[in-house]
Amino acid sequence: MRFDVFTLFTAGLKPYLEISILQRAIQSGLIDVHLHDIRSWTHDRHHVTDDTPYGGGGGMVMKPEPIFAAVEEVMGVPLEAPVVLMTPQGKVFTQRMAQELAAYPRIGLLCGRYEGVDERVRRHLVTHEISIGDYVLTGGELPALVLIDAITRLIPGALGDPTGAADDSHASGLLEYPHYTRPPEFRGWGVPEVLLSGNHAEIERWRREQALLRTWQRRPDMLEQTELSEADRKYLDSLLRKTDS
Ligand code: ADE
Repeated sequence: MRFDVFTLFTAGLKPYLEISILQRAIQSGLIDVHLHDIRSWTHDRHHVTDDTPYGGGGGMVMKPEPIFAAVEEVMGVPLEAPVVLMTPQGKVFTQRMAQELAAYPRIGLLCGRYEGVDERVRRHLVTHEISIGDYVLTGGELPALVLIDAITRLIPGALGDPTGAADDSHASGLLEYPHYTRPPEFRGWGVPEVLLSGNHAEIERWRREQALLRTWQRRPDMLEQTELSEADRKYLDSLLRKTDS
């Protein structure tokens, strides 16, 4: 999968691409990340990429010309792949969106800065607008890295464990069950007996129930969207009965 990132701060993205899973995914050719400095598509002496907003008010707005020139040169006209504008006004990013985007062979990511981009970029250039949450950052670089990270780990072979992404919180529609590792006792705190039992069926059951319990306690909204088995429903009913009594 190929990512083309359009930004004024390529240096801000590099360090995160040079560690751990993303670094390995790049080295093994699973992903290819191209960073494009929007400034390279300016033609004036000072490489100006922003200007004051029409109508007045504070802040600066990213000019449309270098953005259109950069994206069109790299992604083609018409666009050969989706181009996502990272913006707090976009659709809030979810695991499901990561799965959908992972199906494309290539995507472009456009990082806004300052007060944002000229509206004509939003209207006439990009295909998607995505926010990583209801808060405002200084730019779209961290959000672009968030997308690259969430999408890359879904590509088969990117994680050490081939089933790694399947149990993730959110992937199954539930929050993930608790994890423990050695030592079996730490500062007097033990590990649930069942995990030491070697009984795989029991361990599976415990994990499923813990995932249900955790989701019910922390994110009950998620339970409404998730496919539940008869056994899941019985377990959730038993939780409800416990709180009633
Ligand atoms: N740019 C600034 N804040 C953002 C956010 N929350 N999501 C995506 N892009 C942004």
